Amino acid sequence: MMDFQYRNTEPELMDKPNVPIDILRLVFRDINKSNRYLGGNAITLANVCKLIKLFPGKQYTIADMGCGDGEMLRQIAGHFRNKETEVVLIGLDLNENALAIARELSVDFPEITFLKQDILALKPQDFNCDILLCTLTMHHFSNAQIPLFLSKFTKLAKIGIVINDLQRSALSYYLFKGFSAIFIKTKIAKHDGLISIKSGFKKKDLITFSKDLTHTTHTINWKWAFRYVWVIQTSRLSQSYE
Ligand SMILES: C[S@@+](CC[C@H](N)C(=O)[O-])C[C@H]1O[C@@H](n2cnc3c(N)ncnc32)[C@H](O)[C@@H]1O
Repeated sequence: MMDFQYRNTEPELMDKPNVPIDILRLVFRDINKSNRYLGGNAITLANVCKLIKLFPGKQYTIADMGCGDGEMLRQIAGHFRNKETEVVLIGLDLNENALAIARELSVDFPEITFLKQDILALKPQDFNCDILLCTLTMHHFSNAQIPLFLSKFTKLAKIGIVINDLQRSALSYYLFKGFSAIFIKTKIAKHDGLISIKSGFKKKDLITFSKDLTHTTHTINWKWAFRYVWVIQTSRLSQSYE
């Protein structure tokens, strides 16, 4: 039986710099399929809408850290089309090939721009946003690295941060094995999906990280399928989130 007590530290195959762009495109297709079937992006979008409702305004800048192929931002753009709320969307990722795919898939989305950025090298003066997203990206980092960028995130986001990441659990691991045998095509996504669950979080991990973040309020909820959504309010006017 595998041990899920501690976070895995084995790197994911998709983070290797030499993954060919055509393979990476298929890997993102698999990730998007998992997100669609298992509710990932819908949960993030619901929490973005909730923050916007709590802090009403006309225009919001939303930055997605580790945006991959940009699917999350396209869904946000689609949601706000023909609505009064305007969104300016920025996707940041370290991987040039991911950014090339994101730009290719987003030609019909002038409200989205993509930038190359290493999350670990972020500086508070780099840019400003109202809401910052980090979906399925935090588990790529070690326990020592996470507090370094979380504290920068709290300085960059005026209203709040939505972190959506995987729960580390044996049940989730074995269920994903079955899910990926049927729905996931690429070897990389099958392999990395399992590694990601082993690198995911228990609620107590997130609570520990939250204790280092001053002047913020936190809401951590478990969501199907095996996700934690952690909303960090950075605004001084923090609102009740329940
Ligand atoms: C599993 S993908 C998640 C993509 C997307 N956010 C989603 O929810 O489907 C993780 C992304 O984090 C990016 N990433 C990993 N390390 C990074 C770093 N140091 N700086 C910026 N992006 C990074 C990877 O290139 C990859 O696109």
